[in-house]
Amino acid sequence: MKKPSIAHLRREYNASGHSEGHGRFNPLTLSQYWFQQALRALAVVGREYRQNGLIEQKAPPTPLELFQKWFKEALRAKVLDPNAMTLATVTGSGKPAVRTVLLKGFDAHGFVFFTNYASQKGRELAKRPRASLLFFWPPLMQQVRIDGKVVRVSSKESDEYFQSRPRGSQISTWVSRQSQVIPSREFLDRRARQFEKQFKGKPVPRPSYWGGFRLTPERMEFWSGRPNRLHDRLRYQKKSTGGWRLERLSP
Ligand SMILES: Cc1cc2nc3c(=O)[nH]c(=O)nc-3n(C[C@H](O)[C@H](O)[C@H](O)COP(=O)(O)O)c2cc1C
Repeated sequence: MKKPSIAHLRREYNASGHSEGHGRFNPLTLSQYWFQQALRALAVVGREYRQNGLIEQKAPPTPLELFQKWFKEALRAKVLDPNAMTLATVTGSGKPAVRTVLLKGFDAHGFVFFTNYASQKGRELAKRPRASLLFFWPPLMQQVRIDGKVVRVSSKESDEYFQSRPRGSQISTWVSRQSQVIPSREFLDRRARQFEKQFKGKPVPRPSYWGGFRLTPERMEFWSGRPNRLHDRLRYQKKSTGGWRLERLSP
């Protein structure tokens, strides 16, 4: 959206019947007003929704196959960071928390990401080993929601992935005590120099507090944007007898 001139916003603002207070222009009010305008503009920009949506008859028997198909489409569409996913965890007392992590492994057993086991998410998952993942690929107007149980991957799997990382990222796992309060940026840079010196000329080992988690899905929902907000939603739910039950949800 083209940013409207201040004079234009001011005219519109006055016309909308708001008071400017003490006859002086209040930039805070202006910026709030501008934000509202921007949100309204976004709502009317419109989207290219898919004409060919999700049809039960064409849906594969497992959500993992459909996920693979959609992920390929996201790659073909050159979605930025298509493997970035929102991870939701919950504290022991039921407080939810979300953050982005990168999908680093995917197979019939589930979705793998790597992190610091002592981070907030790591501690929450140790106490409550359930989580939700969310992918949103804007150019495709597609969203995938995944819920399930989470376990640590084997040390071997974490080692293998750790060894594949660039050396700088390996050292950073020693530098960063993820999610802890630190005094300054300088503190971090100083620790980085310390560990670079310590590991100079040597391979960097994986710290025991760093590794992968695997979420095994129990439920996966595929959302596909359609015209007039009559979107498609297909949900796969794991049956206790094995296999998946497929249901359509109202948008
Ligand atoms: C695009 C993107 C990718 C990220 N990938 C990871 C990741 O794979 N692992 C990770 O631990 N943090 C990743 N982060 C940082 C997390 O979002 C988060 O800040 C960090 O893990 C601490 O979260 P916590 O305090 O809830 O444990 C990523 C952030 C962004 C924006």
